[in-house]
Amino acid sequence: MALTPPSQRIWWREPVARVELIWITVAFLWGLVMFFMMIYWHGAGKQNLSNEAYRITAEGFTERTNAMVEQHTVREEAGYPVVHPPPGSDVYMIARLWQWWPILELEKDQSYRLHLASLDWQHGFSLQPTNINLQIQPGYEMVVTLTPDKAGEYSVVCNEFCGIGHHTMIGKIYVVE
Ligand code: CUA
Repeated sequence: MALTPPSQRIWWREPVARVELIWITVAFLWGLVMFFMMIYWHGAGKQNLSNEAYRITAEGFTERTNAMVEQHTVREEAGYPVVHPPPGSDVYMIARLWQWWPILELEKDQSYRLHLASLDWQHGFSLQPTNINLQIQPGYEMVVTLTPDKAGEYSVVCNEFCGIGHHTMIGKIYVVE
């Protein structure tokens, strides 16, 4: 803390030091490089999803999900319908306190349009053991075109804290041959 004023009253009108100018230039150029790398990695990398988002209402999304569940449920598991929708179709998963509903059964090497939406508040879609993460916001659906390339059992974990039952919010996706 300065108890006395600086010796030079106009202390800020100093030329910028050379090292600082170099640092600002390097940081700025690096920022530019990374900006274009983001676009490049979207196409060339294996991490970034080309997902889409659309406005929805909770009622409309529930209706579409229920229609799929009614048509394509093949069995039940712990009170959850296991749905096997036809390859190439639109598939739905609801996020709500505290479940991912229903359980999906997809076929390997077939493409699906996966619609994800929350009926209450924010949840996080994390597909394990792959590294797919999406924020699921109320009022919007996230649509991902996916082609599972490995059979097995996948877990959907909520990775956005959503209240007392957050840790129990686990869903399932089966990929069958
Ligand atoms: Cu849903 Cu945490």
